[in-house]
Amino acid sequence: MHNHLWWKRGIIYQIYPRSFQDTNGDGIGDLEGIRRRLDYLTWLGVDAIWISPVYPSPMADFGYDVADYCNIDPLFGSIDDFRLLLDDAHGRGLKVVMDFVPNHTSIAHEWFQQSLSAKDHPKRDWYIWRDPAPGGGVPNNWVSSFGGPAWTFDEATGQYYYHAFLSSQPDLNWRNPDVCCAMHDVLRFWLDLGVDGFRVDVIWHLMKDPDFRDNPVNPGYGEGRGEIEKFLQVHSTDHPDVHGVIAGMRKVIDAYPDRVLIGEVYLPVERLVTYYGQDLSGAHLPFNFQLLEVAWQAQRVADLIVEYDRSIPDGGWPNWVLGNHDRPRVAARIGEKQARVGTMLLLTLRGTPTLYYGDELGIGKIHIPDHLVHDPWEKNEPGLGLGRDPERTPMQWDASEAAGFTTGTPWLPLSSDHLSRNVVLQREDAASMLNLTRALIALRRSSAALSVGTFALLKLQGDMLAFERRYSEERVIVVLNLCHNEECWDMPADVVGKILLSTGLRAPDEPVSGSICMQPDEGVVIRCH
Ligand code: GLC
Repeated sequence: MHNHLWWKRGIIYQIYPRSFQDTNGDGIGDLEGIRRRLDYLTWLGVDAIWISPVYPSPMADFGYDVADYCNIDPLFGSIDDFRLLLDDAHGRGLKVVMDFVPNHTSIAHEWFQQSLSAKDHPKRDWYIWRDPAPGGGVPNNWVSSFGGPAWTFDEATGQYYYHAFLSSQPDLNWRNPDVCCAMHDVLRFWLDLGVDGFRVDVIWHLMKDPDFRDNPVNPGYGEGRGEIEKFLQVHSTDHPDVHGVIAGMRKVIDAYPDRVLIGEVYLPVERLVTYYGQDLSGAHLPFNFQLLEVAWQAQRVADLIVEYDRSIPDGGWPNWVLGNHDRPRVAARIGEKQARVGTMLLLTLRGTPTLYYGDELGIGKIHIPDHLVHDPWEKNEPGLGLGRDPERTPMQWDASEAAGFTTGTPWLPLSSDHLSRNVVLQREDAASMLNLTRALIALRRSSAALSVGTFALLKLQGDMLAFERRYSEERVIVVLNLCHNEECWDMPADVVGKILLSTGLRAPDEPVSGSICMQPDEGVVIRCH
């Protein structure tokens, strides 16, 4: 198992830094807070942390609007704090993955200020400037992912600039070789400091159609959906030239040993897997977000696993995500009981799992009163359920007033949920989601079959999903009951084993053969003799 690189056998834990741990009382998490919680992360047993952006930023999109790629925003600390965190993490054997946001900067970035200053400024072409359409108006029909036009007019120079997200997040022009060089230098800056890799923000957006053709109308668009869905993003994203850009980043990263490149890609599977790149020259792990969207039924989940498995190019390594800072939390999507089953799935599938902070406690949907909404998407398109604040609320450490997160007022509200759902309480409770997650992590780490073994789907029965993982002589079977009823699953004739772990109340070591009666909402891991 140790012949496999850390990012293949390991488990990644995503930290949304604003919400993890505050240490200076301003209600916003910081790097020192993450450092002080490293003992918790090693206790939990994860291998790596990925930290959402901590760069200097006006925070219009909470750090995804970067004003300086080679520094730390004072809200989060300093470069020295970052070094300290990195050293302490490495000292504990934890890897640290940075968020890299190459598609766009903040308008506050000096590159954009220079680009804006004059049409003939050498930095003009670092961003995407177009003349108005003949007769006036926006250059084409591209829409911002957060609603509204993706073009903003600059009176002084008479042109529009393109922004796939907020007007304060202008897109960089990756067709300009100077942009590539500058961004490669950014990667080297952090690699030289010692970071273990990058999660690349909206990597499928980097190259656009050079002719800026209109996007076609989406025939499937319906009321109540975000404006971005009115059009199919075929010309504004996923241009084939993007793979050359990613291969360029890979070359930079591959000059350093053992680093990982993860790409954020929201595309259907057949497009997603192209991000492994020609001859695997692309992202090591193009994020696989399918579990965030699938209808929670055994058949549907089985179908997507099979399709994904079949689509991955030879030598490509799979990965799975159950939650992140952009999508409703797993317990909010499928309920608290099934979230336990989902976590068992995440941590037993073949491929690197990414856990989202707080999901190990089973945090569900936290209500955000209108006057406390922060997310710009919710502000732009209110009431459609697009807002991302509910999955970004502070980590629930204990039952004190601000959940042990801050001594001040948390930037996003906590609900009373933290009184009964927090790390302190759940550590004491053997049956808690936290202890289940920890046990699953320990099991995965101790088992070559679960970490790096082969995968085979077993017979579907009722709403139960079952699969087998094998490595050499080790054979493990996972059975997951995705419904709220008791159901029996008939074991393959040659299986005689014992329970290693259940999401329910079943005792470990219980012998199993023939048929196993699953409790409602139960998942089990079985070791075969
Ligand atoms: C990614 C980030 C998201 C951000 C967007 C624009 O999707 O995960 O939080 O708003 O990119 O940078």
